[in-house]
Amino acid sequence: MNNLISLKKISKNFILNNKIKALRNINFDFELGKIYSIVGPSGSGKSTLLNILSLIDKPSSGNVKIDGKSIDFNNHDLNDKIRASSIGIIYQNYNLLPDFTALENVSLAGLALNKNNKISLNEAKKTISNLGLSKRLDHFPSELSGGENQRIAIARALINKPKIILADEPTGNLDHKSAKNVFKILLDLKKSNRLIIFATHNREFAKLSDCKIEMIDGNIKSINGKIQSV
Ligand SMILES: Nc1ncnc2c1ncn2[C@@H]1O[C@H](COP(=O)(O)OP(=O)(O)O)[C@@H](O)[C@H]1O
Ligand SMILES: [Mg+2]
Repeated sequence: MNNLISLKKISKNFILNNKIKALRNINFDFELGKIYSIVGPSGSGKSTLLNILSLIDKPSSGNVKIDGKSIDFNNHDLNDKIRASSIGIIYQNYNLLPDFTALENVSLAGLALNKNNKISLNEAKKTISNLGLSKRLDHFPSELSGGENQRIAIARALINKPKIILADEPTGNLDHKSAKNVFKILLDLKKSNRLIIFATHNREFAKLSDCKIEMIDGNIKSINGKIQSV
């Protein structure tokens, strides 16, 4: 089997004034070489699930395995290393550092893997150029369009050549043309034998994934249109 990420009985509760069950007993296996979309109404648990997959947030119960190894969510040092080497994350708001240029934003992510500055800068240049933005290396995020910012954020996610790419509504802030462009990049990434998981409100893009996971109220409602019993 080609399971790269395996989720067993994942639940996540947020306790504020009352208890919010953001994820309820999620079981799912994600395979390498496939692209998955997560759809569902606002508040259905898409971002919570992606935050657990990116090892940023800790499940209340259940087990996450990556490459066959159980994740210890209390081992932050190890999880930071796993994230830096194996997981690229793309957000709706790009999350670029405003006081750093495009090139610096991308090369800083390379430094997280203990590369030296020169190697990291060269790889950042290459990755940005591959996404068609070699003329924007010295621009700051405020000097780039939304689509350009997102391509820089994708370059940042790719610089360490991670096997796993997670994207939370990556085209949510973009006009249709830029969204299509960004989405095409995500689809192309599949060719390099990766696992790609993205949350989206865009049905057109969701349809292009290999597997569509529909969430509702913290549960998986359907997989590729097939209703799941919960
Ligand atoms: N940090 C948090 N604290 C409290 N409640 C949260 C937090 N993050 C998410 N939630 C709640 O968990 C539920 C799922 O949210 P989320 O995963 O963001 O949904 P989606 O991404 O599908 O819109 C919602 O009810 C939301 O209000
Ligand atoms: Mg969300």
